[in-house]
Amino acid sequence: MHRFFFAFGSGARSCIGRNISWMEMSKLIPTLFMRYDLTLADANAELTEKCWWFVIQKGLYVNVRRRQETKEVPRRAWFD
Ligand code: HEM
Repeated sequence: MHRFFFAFGSGARSCIGRNISWMEMSKLIPTLFMRYDLTLADANAELTEKCWWFVIQKGLYVNVRRRQETKEVPRRAWFD
């Protein structure tokens, strides 16, 4: 799988931001789903994509509601 993953390009000019991006994604996405319930605003809406340099999506509307059961965890410094 890793050999064929080219989201960050490949070779000598591959993305120098890939490690920080992986770190951000692996923190943000689980935190989003842990703290919020996301449901489709319109399950029948058509999802369209235009792909040139970036993939631009349209039609993906979601309702975001904070989960009741989420307990606030005190923030800790990275060296704790
Ligand atoms: C999900 C986030 C990101 C994706 C999908 C992404 C993707 C890419 C891709 C496909 C390339 C071209 C690689 C190639 O030509 O083979 C690239 C280059 C580059 N990216 Fe990213 N990138 C992301 C985030 C970042 C971030 C956060 C930074 C900076 C902090 C960054 C800095 C750069 C730079 C400077 C280059 C040019 C490298 C070079 O030409 O030597 N990228 N990125």
